[in-house]
Amino acid sequence: MPTGQRSIMRTLTFFQPQRLVFGCGCLAECLAYLKSLAPAHLFILTSGPLASTASSLQTELGRAGVSASVEAGIEGEPTIADFEAVTERARRAGATCILGLGGGSVLDVAKLVAAFVNGSQSINETFGIGLLHGRACHLVCMPTTSGTGSEVSPNAILLDESAKLKKAVISPHLVPDATFIDPELTISVPTAVTAATGLDALAHCVEAYTNKFAHPLVDLYALEGIALCGRFLLRAVQSPADMEAREGMSLAGLYGGLCLGPVNTAAGHALAYPLGAEYHIAHGLSVALVQPHVFRFNAEATPERHAAVARALGVADRPDSLETALAGARAIEQLTKDCGLDSHLGAYGVKPDDIPALAASAMTVTRLLRNNPQPVTEADCVQIYRDCFRPNAAPQLHAARCRPEG
Ligand SMILES: [Fe+2]
Repeated sequence: MPTGQRSIMRTLTFFQPQRLVFGCGCLAECLAYLKSLAPAHLFILTSGPLASTASSLQTELGRAGVSASVEAGIEGEPTIADFEAVTERARRAGATCILGLGGGSVLDVAKLVAAFVNGSQSINETFGIGLLHGRACHLVCMPTTSGTGSEVSPNAILLDESAKLKKAVISPHLVPDATFIDPELTISVPTAVTAATGLDALAHCVEAYTNKFAHPLVDLYALEGIALCGRFLLRAVQSPADMEAREGMSLAGLYGGLCLGPVNTAAGHALAYPLGAEYHIAHGLSVALVQPHVFRFNAEATPERHAAVARALGVADRPDSLETALAGARAIEQLTKDCGLDSHLGAYGVKPDDIPALAASAMTVTRLLRNNPQPVTEADCVQIYRDCFRPNAAPQLHAARCRPEG
């Protein structure tokens, strides 16, 4: 670079599936792809509600001479023990290709099984960023919910039950070889899951766009994902068969997933993880519970970025950026309520006395807290959790901590 010219944009690397197929009915293309791939043994990982779809795939593949087995045991938030048991069964089956067909939990486990079925590392050696050595097994993902973004992300989350912590493996080796996103598969998803996963997609986009390490290349996906959530989430919740809304939310989930690798989330997810680990609140719901309060907290640091989020959600401009941003927090809160979710932490068995332990646990998620546009202390976490017990909380301004946007 010539002397005197300095780049102001940091270098960013995108890892994406080699094949990304999006569109209604692309389940058929996934089947054709697997037939042409003709693996020695395909291990299909799914959950109970999708077992019949997986069995149909298994039958079709069998007719084409492709050996396949179905594992339908992944439900809820998977633990390390769940993952290890499934990996052992995949190993015994002689899996050379893994297909994850399901929601984020299924896909996370499928990604890890593909990496560990013939790997030599232990899972504990790989928690963190970039510690996984490689993946020899082919990996195909097909999401049946719209929101987690796991189908394109390098992230996989497991619950460490002994530590009561959600732990992440983050590695480019976890990005699938091929991903097929068929919005038709999301039609039968229960309303509460549509709501929670949709709010998770919104959170991925919001936390990436307002991230300390936000990047113009990712901003594109993030802002468009936020706009899609604003337009289609409520429609998908209220009218499950509305295909335009389902397509819009599948796209929003994809865009949110594309934000996770190069930028990732921040304090919203860091404060949500203890709620999932301690109280088994579903991931999307736990994120939705804290999101408006974290948004208010962060808006003071970068009001312009937060105002842009509000505008993407359809909020009209207010006299200044911070007011627009705070109106955005109210819009997120209202969307959560309109989706039928109780936004009061007490409704999920959490007690105010639990807050100090929750705050201490959230502070351990340093890999995400360091992404936050506003520095977060343990006292801040305590205040944010307290706000979660006060629906429609008035903005808790921390004017002394405001700093210029950057
Ligand atoms: Fe998430």
